[in-house]
Amino acid sequence: MRHLIDFGDLSRAEWEQLYQRTSEIIDHPADFMEICKGRVAASLFFEPSTRTNFSFQTAMLRVGGTVFGFADPNSSSVAKGECLKDTIKMVSGYADVVVMRNPREGAAKAASLYSDVPVINAGDGGHMHPTQTTTDLTTITRMLGGVDGISIGLCGDLKNGRTVHSLIKALAKFDNVKFYLISPRELAVPEYIRAFMKEKGLWSVEVTGLENVIPQLDVLYMTRIQRERFVDPLEYERNKGIYVLTRRKLERARKNMLVMHPLPRVDEIALDVDDDPRAAYFQQARYGMFSRMAILSDLANQPRMRPEPVEIGTT
Ligand code: CP
Repeated sequence: MRHLIDFGDLSRAEWEQLYQRTSEIIDHPADFMEICKGRVAASLFFEPSTRTNFSFQTAMLRVGGTVFGFADPNSSSVAKGECLKDTIKMVSGYADVVVMRNPREGAAKAASLYSDVPVINAGDGGHMHPTQTTTDLTTITRMLGGVDGISIGLCGDLKNGRTVHSLIKALAKFDNVKFYLISPRELAVPEYIRAFMKEKGLWSVEVTGLENVIPQLDVLYMTRIQRERFVDPLEYERNKGIYVLTRRKLERARKNMLVMHPLPRVDEIALDVDDDPRAAYFQQARYGMFSRMAILSDLANQPRMRPEPVEIGTT
């Protein structure tokens, strides 16, 4: 693995290896405290973040490395007009791995073409968020014992939710997963995801109501309506608050169903659901740190793609 841009680039065997490493780190963190000693991560967040930014930073510190970067691009020369290519060229000269979140779809892929060190996509617009997916799969595997054969309800803004797009691509690598796609019609999964599901022959139904499908689910994956992605504010106003998971709705769910959410939540899970034993989202966020420790322990230790020039010579 040279870069982590799209979970779809990983084979199932590579995922199994990554999960194995993540489990070892969860169970024996002290054994990994120096695995990235002397390594440096660049953390470039062109968009706001709490979980991804802080879990990557703490992950790097917990495996013995160090981190530099920005959470606000206006504190860098991006504010003076420096382009992505030049920013990545500079930063990849100082770091062993680059973690980047950017509002533009495809930005992480572009960065990987300019970088001399591995690039990790920490979210590119409404497109993909592969390290959220490694977090999600870790949570399901640890808490349900496996991913094959699960029935999952993906609920909310399926059009703009990059965590959902990434997760669907990942779940396609497992056997007999059933997808319940729960959204308003105007926030249904984008065409490229629908085409991908069709090509892979995935079992799925698209519905607008949450209550009727809850009893079928092993995992309910709630997502927020992504206000920052709406071009038309009226479309957001029409859809905000459309799904709210309450304790009463949970009464219809299986006793061991997981309630997951990539977070942040706005209002789509009532606060008192947090006390239900099925509420997995805070544990999910914690697993994110361990998953990122596993990813960094591999990618921050890769050799640079271009060796240092020795001598240009004279004419
Ligand atoms: N899940 C997630 O990406 O959260 P942040 O936006 O806080 O990083």
